Amino acid sequence: MNTFQFDTSKRIVNEVGGLRHCPNLCKELGVKHVIIVSDKGLRQLGMVDELAHCLQNAGVSATVFDKTVADPPDSIVLEASAAAIESGADGVIGIGGGSSMDCAKLVSVLVKQQQSLSQMFGLNQITGTRAPLILIPTTAGTGSEVTPISIVTTGETTKAGIVSHHLLPDVALLDASLTLDLPAHITAATGIDAMVHAIEAYTSKIKKNPYSDMLAKQALLLLSSNIEKAVTTGKDLPARQQMMFGACLAGQAFANAPVGGVHALAYPLGGHFHIPHGLSNALVLPHVLRFNASHAASMYGELAAQIKPSASVSNPLSTSEDLAQYFEELLKICGLPTSLKALQIPKKDLTVLAQDAMLQERLLVNNPKHMHFDDALNIYEQAY
Ligand SMILES: [Fe+2]
Repeated sequence: MNTFQFDTSKRIVNEVGGLRHCPNLCKELGVKHVIIVSDKGLRQLGMVDELAHCLQNAGVSATVFDKTVADPPDSIVLEASAAAIESGADGVIGIGGGSSMDCAKLVSVLVKQQQSLSQMFGLNQITGTRAPLILIPTTAGTGSEVTPISIVTTGETTKAGIVSHHLLPDVALLDASLTLDLPAHITAATGIDAMVHAIEAYTSKIKKNPYSDMLAKQALLLLSSNIEKAVTTGKDLPARQQMMFGACLAGQAFANAPVGGVHALAYPLGGHFHIPHGLSNALVLPHVLRFNASHAASMYGELAAQIKPSASVSNPLSTSEDLAQYFEELLKICGLPTSLKALQIPKKDLTVLAQDAMLQERLLVNNPKHMHFDDALNIYEQAY
């Protein structure tokens, strides 16, 4: 067995309606005034102010920062931190998708005023401490509530990562009642993203470890057993909670055994054409599985056996090709686009996408099979 380290959030609360525990969780952490980091869309749905009132009624002061946007620029992170400092906050709650949680993680460090944001970029650059931090996802996908990573947009389109175990929260709170209003296509794409986290963690070349393997298998079982129900019957709360838990397990897995080729090829689609992250992953996934099959067949076979597909697939899954076909079918069942062409991406731009994918070196090193430019281009052509 390889030596390994495994880091995760200190506490996981997995409960439908678990949001109601926030006041007590704050009190246990010694927080008297919390800043809630979220976005305008979520605030309009009412749940952010509901959380603020719930805290205030229990004697915990709350200030709301609702300006987080997708792929938050450093200016937004700094604005949120300034709001936290000005309000006198001594604790942080991040509620929303990955962007709000990523922003909240950084605010919990910056509110201590020990280090500037620019000093924190890269691996393990955070020194000092952070304020108490609670993260509450409102999609079942990113797993940000259990990852030690924040992604910040630093230039026009340049993204930079901050990776530190300090960014793991005190509490990850999984409450699927917050996901009931999600449209089917977002439920589908974020759910497939979580399944990709599990698959890529299980086949991660450098940091594959027994904890991540165990979590990835369980994540895939939960996600595949519930994704169709969650997509087609959006109000199915048990299915939604299982998705939330599955995405969290997959997040724990890939936080310690990083993702590879699928994410490397997905990021350029987001960067150039603003294709949502989950959908980008979903479109290249079957073709990356086929590309990797010669080097990962036994691992893909083990993962395929975890998949509990719908009645549309009668035989148990056992091979890499079964896994690839399962995801091609899942895209159709979930009503997602099934090709890059359907998203009106010009075919001539596949070369630029492949060039950009080659820049994702920190991801490509985790892929079970070495991927060259020609391989990346070929995969995009297959996905077209
Ligand atoms: Fe992802």
